[in-house]
Amino acid sequence: MTGATAGAGKVLDAGELRELVAAAGAAPSLHNSQPWRFRSAEDGSGVLVFADRTRAVPLADPDGRALLVSVGAALFNLRAAAARNGLPVGTELLPDRADLADRADGTDGAGAEERPVAVLRFGPRGVPYPPAELADAIGRRHSSREPFGNRDVPEAVVGELIAAAAAEGAVLEFLEEAGARRVLALTAEAEARIAGDAARRAETGSWLREEPAADGIPERALGPQDPESRVPVRDFAGHGPDHPERFEALPQVATVATAGDTPADWLRAGQAMERVWLLATARGLRVSVLHQAVELPDTRGALRDPDGGPGTGSIQVVLRVGYGPPGAATPRRDVEDLLGGPVV
Ligand SMILES: Cc1cc2nc3c(=O)[nH]c(=O)nc-3n(C[C@H](O)[C@H](O)[C@H](O)COP(=O)(O)O)c2cc1C
Repeated sequence: MTGATAGAGKVLDAGELRELVAAAGAAPSLHNSQPWRFRSAEDGSGVLVFADRTRAVPLADPDGRALLVSVGAALFNLRAAAARNGLPVGTELLPDRADLADRADGTDGAGAEERPVAVLRFGPRGVPYPPAELADAIGRRHSSREPFGNRDVPEAVVGELIAAAAAEGAVLEFLEEAGARRVLALTAEAEARIAGDAARRAETGSWLREEPAADGIPERALGPQDPESRVPVRDFAGHGPDHPERFEALPQVATVATAGDTPADWLRAGQAMERVWLLATARGLRVSVLHQAVELPDTRGALRDPDGGPGTGSIQVVLRVGYGPPGAATPRRDVEDLLGGPVV
């Protein structure tokens, strides 16, 4: 493959492909499962994005919803990195529910023709999008499970973050005090139920990693537990508050919602979450995900604003946002692994 422009679109060279895929692979994912794979389009005019069902987390995520939210986040990073390299892109979302259901048994769909869930095409003209400052934040974005300070996110930044989600077809709602307390209580309830389920505990624990590792979560990224239970951080290690620390008095909580609840909506939600997270990072904010209540059907339903606020669609992700320590970097799979072999 060469770096020359061929026909209507740009053709990627091996170095550019590696750079874009490394950026995609830095995205957040459920338990750092990194359930994605990438391939250059046959003619080099784009990148195919695949959902890797062998990396599913079946008890926490039986429908593969969080898996596609994670793939959506990787897709956004791919777009952001392409924009930084001056490549205008068009994105097609191609999820297929039947195709995903076939692989719910965790097999790789061996023998079946593998279908991408999205395709990124490099166009001949147009304005690179999204803004390059978001790509610059990819390497600085981490989950911060640490206590935050009590400083409010300024209204102007809240407005920018809401617009970032809207640009991806999702609704970001920053919750008022009553809403935040309701969502945190539901998260605490879900956390207690998950922690009380031995199979769920074992599944979560199976993603804890000794380093060096290529995926999963190292203990040093976990952060403390909140002895006052204001912030129900997921208890990955299952040993309760052995490093208790005081968290912020009123956590700032935001939800990402989509109008529908289809695989395409999950991909959209993931792109919106990552766009919001990168912009927040560029503005000096820290973010972590509180996903427990989204994992149980009844608590997920109850997350919706009973008074019909903007987040009345399907809630896909709950984010905690604030000012505090950056959080630790977590391991990532090699680019060769993400591409299924060396790029020549
Ligand atoms: C769909 C989804 C759900 C997640 N749920 C949680 C969660 O409940 N608790 C948590 O601490 N982190 C959660 N995370 C964050 C991941 O654990 C994190 O992205 C991953 O370990 C990689 O670390 P990084 O974000 O620092 O790059 C979630 C991320 C995604 C995309």
